[in-house]
Amino acid sequence: MLAGPLSPHREDQAPGPALAAAAAGFGTPAYLMDLPAVAAAAARLEAAFGGPWLRLYSLKANDLPAITSFLHGRGWGASVVSTGEWRYARAAGVANDSVAFEGIGKSDAQLGFAVTEAAAGRPVRWLALESGQEAAVLAGLAAAAGLGRDGRPSLDVLVRLNPEVAPETRPEFAVGARASKFGMSDREILALAGDGALAGPRLRLRGVQVHVGSDLTDVRAFGDAGVRATRLLAALRAARPADAGWLDTIDFGGGFPLPAPGMPGPEDFRDALARALDRAGRALPPRPAIEPGRYLVGAAGWLVASVLHARPGTGGAQLVVLDAGMTEFIRPALYRTRHPVSAVADGPGNQAGSRLLDTAVEGPVCESTDSFGRHLLPPLRRGDLVAIGQAGAYGASFTSRYNGRPPPREILLWPDGSMEPGERPPLTTGQASTSRE
Ligand SMILES: Cc1ncc(COP(=O)(O)O)c(C=O)c1O
Repeated sequence: MLAGPLSPHREDQAPGPALAAAAAGFGTPAYLMDLPAVAAAAARLEAAFGGPWLRLYSLKANDLPAITSFLHGRGWGASVVSTGEWRYARAAGVANDSVAFEGIGKSDAQLGFAVTEAAAGRPVRWLALESGQEAAVLAGLAAAAGLGRDGRPSLDVLVRLNPEVAPETRPEFAVGARASKFGMSDREILALAGDGALAGPRLRLRGVQVHVGSDLTDVRAFGDAGVRATRLLAALRAARPADAGWLDTIDFGGGFPLPAPGMPGPEDFRDALARALDRAGRALPPRPAIEPGRYLVGAAGWLVASVLHARPGTGGAQLVVLDAGMTEFIRPALYRTRHPVSAVADGPGNQAGSRLLDTAVEGPVCESTDSFGRHLLPPLRRGDLVAIGQAGAYGASFTSRYNGRPPPREILLWPDGSMEPGERPPLTTGQASTSRE
């Protein structure tokens, strides 16, 4: 651990001294995760979604256990989409009753693990079903394990609704659109609620999960989807009067964008939902939930990289190749997202205040899409440090080993200014496969 304290910084500014210290202490490329910035984002969400709201952190945004643990310490549960993420949540100290097991496709082994844990008296808070086939397999496993009998608990399930809305975001993130693969239609769900899979004590239908999309630039689809989910919950209660007491939950998903001028904040989404429900003559269910990822960690993370070479550019004044690229941070290559890039003024050789040049910022991977785009940067030389901002979400958890590249370091910057590398437990191949746990 490197000892602090480092001077405080504004949330929207690259913490130059900390980035330089992380690079000097641990090498590059490295992610720096600023826990005070995570706390600030969490506090805003907690203020917007207080009271009855359950708050779950979507680990997919950044699955480093120390971050999940930090949020869990503030009362956040975990939303996981695989037994691998579940393992990370456990490593973070999150007990199963604070874990929601979700995800678009679950293997028999993964469903079986959820059942085994429930049979051992440790059921997850809920498991979200994506299809009737998944429900049938889970019901069979739960019956074989005797869930809901002889003192063994039932396993709570939600059904994931495709809300068929028009999410205001880039098409790749518009998972609440009808054409997407995510979730079932309300017709499918009502049919599922009437068939045998969800009958009996082994599985207990608790409600509906819905997620509109990520990085939403407007609040309307969030409100529309919320109305559809509450209508569906009412229809499920009417269809299953004996279970009406249990049908109390709607998980409204995540999707809140990072703070930026003109972008809606978490409280705008809450208010839009309240207005939409009011107009539709509906109310929040007794147990509403959110499961954001990006908002909690996106602005809190920087990827610090070293310049490998800099030379005159063809289209611009300068072309630099960094020691970080799409293997460390895939979003610009995958989605053409633009992230702020700045020189770390406290790094070796970097001159604060020098003139800025139109610079093509490139990665070291053998792909022409391996680019961070054009940015205004000072003249750079080999060894200078560059920071890519808003990299805390869908960055470190989305790395690949292409070109033989090892995972980047992940450094935690704690509130007291100290830094240490984050650790994660190893995953086995079986956790992602259909055959073995
Ligand atoms: C079902 C579900 N919930 C929550 C999230 C988290 O979204 P975000 O990181 O935009 O808050 C996602 C992201 O893909 C998701 O698919």
